[in-house]
Amino acid sequence: MDAFGPGTDVEMAQDTVFRLTSRNGVEGLQAFQEPIPTPGQYEVLIKARSVSLNYREVAIANSRYPLPVKDNVIPCSDMAGEIVQVGDRVKGFSVGDRVLAALSDQMLYGPFNPAYELYGSNLDGLLQQYVALPAHGIIKLPDTSHTLTQWAALACTGATVWNAFYGGIPLKPGDRVLIQGTGGVSLTALTLGKAAGAVTIITSSSDKKLEYVQSEFGADHTINYKTHPNWEAEVLRITNGEGVDHVIEIGGEATIRQSLEAVAFGGVISLVGFLGPRAEDNMPGLTSTAMLKNCTVRGILGGSKQLLEGAVRFMGRRGLMIPIDRTFGYSRDEIIAALEHVAAGKQIGKPVFEQQSTFETANGKLYAPDGSIGLGYEAYAQTRQYAQSMDRVSGSSID
Ligand SMILES: NC(=O)c1ccc[n+]([C@@H]2O[C@H](COP(=O)([O-])OP(=O)(O)OC[C@H]3O[C@@H](n4cnc5c(N)ncnc54)[C@H](OP(=O)(O)O)[C@@H]3O)[C@@H](O)[C@H]2O)c1
Repeated sequence: MDAFGPGTDVEMAQDTVFRLTSRNGVEGLQAFQEPIPTPGQYEVLIKARSVSLNYREVAIANSRYPLPVKDNVIPCSDMAGEIVQVGDRVKGFSVGDRVLAALSDQMLYGPFNPAYELYGSNLDGLLQQYVALPAHGIIKLPDTSHTLTQWAALACTGATVWNAFYGGIPLKPGDRVLIQGTGGVSLTALTLGKAAGAVTIITSSSDKKLEYVQSEFGADHTINYKTHPNWEAEVLRITNGEGVDHVIEIGGEATIRQSLEAVAFGGVISLVGFLGPRAEDNMPGLTSTAMLKNCTVRGILGGSKQLLEGAVRFMGRRGLMIPIDRTFGYSRDEIIAALEHVAAGKQIGKPVFEQQSTFETANGKLYAPDGSIGLGYEAYAQTRQYAQSMDRVSGSSID
């Protein structure tokens, strides 16, 4: 029986939905009360419990996102929740199932296609309390003790990193992986790469972040790209001149030349981010370097539902956790604070919005908002404490 629908107490309830009414900054975000959607025959209605944030949302709010964005878009693509109503023709899902949305209900397998619509850009996103989605675009989560906040943190960065590691030339145990930065994509790559048996090298602009990432998440080697502007030489030093087998490229045009120097012969550079300034004068010689290195330079645009399923399976079976930077509440002020936090580059890992109160303890155990025992609370608490200390240390920004 539906937990939500005709005849129930909440039948007439309204949904608090956030839309970007302008894209000149995060202040364009406004709350609206809209009717809770009614799922179609092939859809399920999901109570969104946790929604995680990517740099993409900041880029969209500031009109810096390279793909089309619809007017008054509801932001965010990463949502984990519980099914509260099931359409008549839906098979394989039931009320109460814990689910994760793929990045699109159209990008189910294979590469991105410009005809596809993505949640949070040219299709309304998932920053809603209740959302009706086609059942074919959601993933039933395995029965593990991961919280829905943990699962929400996997969606975009998990699909993207799984695409980088396994959508082309696959990562192998013992491969060396260079990961730029300490944000959401980077720490997802660190988590999945380490668990797959890779040797990880991570770069950051901050020694504090590097110390934290090494002690908490086990990065094998760290390089500060501010104090080592020629960081590719450090990579070659660490790897005895051999270079790395995979690069998770975050800086884009600003760093690709150095990544080509750092990659091993036959290696793979996955072009994921576009955070550095444009530097066309850095470009001459790139094609010949790539040719001489026999390397693969591969553009990544998110990842299909099928790729995300691979990441979910790995995280579930190996009990992995994507580092969560901190959790925010579901209100306009908190969402704007989270966007500003990401815009200032303060995060380590993924910021997540939770639609219920924070973790509670009982009988000496910790319970997450979805009622499950909070796996890895210690790491969560330390991360949170660290993020707070960074705020105190840095004031308005960390450089
Ligand atoms: N292609 C795709 O499918 C896809 C999917 C997801 C994200 N992205 C893109 O990937 C990038 C990262 O996304 P995110 O959500 O992980 O962002 P994020 O959480 O904001 O993290 C960004 C991190 O990048 C690092 N960084 C910034 N400039 C850098 C530079 N010049 N060189 C090396 N590292 C640098 C910073 O690390 P430190 O603070 O430690 O220095 C920062 O923490 C963004 O451009 C985003 O749009 C693309």
